[in-house]
Amino acid sequence: MEKLMIRGGHPLRGTVTISGAKNSAVALLPAALLAETEVRLDNLPRLSDVAVYAEILEELGGRVSWNQDSMVIDPSGLRSKAMPNGKVKLLRASYYLMGAMLGRFGEATIGLPGGCNFEPRPIDQHIKGFEALGATVTNDHGSIRIFAKELRGAKVYLDVASVGATINIMLAASRAKGSTIIENAAKEPEIIDVATLLNAMGARIKGAGTDTIRIEGVDAMHGCRHSIIPDRIQAATYMIAAAATRGDMLVDNVIPKHLEAVTAKLQELGVHVYEMDEAIRIVGQPTYEAVDVKALIYPGFATDMQSPMTSLLTQANGVSILTDYVYSNRFKHVPELVRMGANIRVEGRSAIIEGSKLNAAKVKAADLRAGAALVVAGLTVEDGITEVSGVEYIDRGYDYLVDNLRMLGADVWREAKS
Ligand code: EPU
Repeated sequence: MEKLMIRGGHPLRGTVTISGAKNSAVALLPAALLAETEVRLDNLPRLSDVAVYAEILEELGGRVSWNQDSMVIDPSGLRSKAMPNGKVKLLRASYYLMGAMLGRFGEATIGLPGGCNFEPRPIDQHIKGFEALGATVTNDHGSIRIFAKELRGAKVYLDVASVGATINIMLAASRAKGSTIIENAAKEPEIIDVATLLNAMGARIKGAGTDTIRIEGVDAMHGCRHSIIPDRIQAATYMIAAAATRGDMLVDNVIPKHLEAVTAKLQELGVHVYEMDEAIRIVGQPTYEAVDVKALIYPGFATDMQSPMTSLLTQANGVSILTDYVYSNRFKHVPELVRMGANIRVEGRSAIIEGSKLNAAKVKAADLRAGAALVVAGLTVEDGITEVSGVEYIDRGYDYLVDNLRMLGADVWREAKS
């Protein structure tokens, strides 16, 4: 186990290149199971979650080979296999094996997913979708067993616009007989990315990115080459870190449209933000004014960005209120920020943040984005060394973090945890 050591107080200056989106990658890898020939994914991030997913595909008989940031998945040796335990428990996104294997083999047995459990995260909408397609779903001692003699297209209305449920239903419905319509579908860019891959594999999906997605099932799917969209959460984290350290950073290889909510909020705080075709420049300012933030489903301000944003709001004058309407209690970073001198209290699903100077402390990341929040906070501290443990969570979503931060002028390193 390692910890991240941060001697803060250095404005981040320079260019950072954003990698492919984690939340796309962990859906695209299982989606490749639906093809009968090779799928090549380009711009894959080098993350622990991606490495674990590749090992899961190999356990199922797929052949996986890396070439720099590309991966080729040869699904020709794939077989149906129950996966009740083991690696599937390490990843929340292992739930995508349910839809992919159901589509490919008509059955799936997958241990209930692990991952970042910042609060109970139900999968009832995924199950409702599989059942609508004609599958029988049972929970057998913590494993979900799904079986269908024949998948038939259906209309599914999601009670909540869930990213995972939308993708899982698209995966299974791509191979169902007839048409499926998902109403109140999630609209996140990662959903469009998955639909683009599936369509390149021969699926017939329309409407991804809107709240109504139509899928005409097909009998067979083939390989293709696909490049993953940039990671908007990683990009937002660097944008926030640039603002928090009063730096001047070019965040390169992004789709600025995916970052509009964070761009607008940073401008409201007083940060100077310049949008280019595929990059965003952030110029930090000496003072910021408090703002209120509402984390919502896309295109609102993403819940995944709210934790690092909390750290930035500690640097603003006045009182900011940050409310998360997606998760009711995603505030595991707050007690740690308080240990660093932040003045924050949580009331219901809101964090009330009063601007204050932070100081160095030993803090623990309890989940991925909570970890990102602590890194942003540590970078602002002018005296002393902030020690962030729980780095294994941060490694799930930020590849080359230390290299990137050092290139931007931060004094950051990893140390073995004593
Ligand atoms: N929900 C249900 N029932 C379901 C599914 C979801 O009630 O069957 C609720 C959840 O409890 C939550 C809301 O619906 O309140 C949205 O959850 P969603 O299903 O959209 O989340 P997810 O698919 O499990 C993905 C990302 C998360 C991100 C959320 C929200 C992946 C692998 N994960 O999770 O990313 O926070 O969407 O945008 O795509 C992260 O990157 O750190 C992360 C946690």
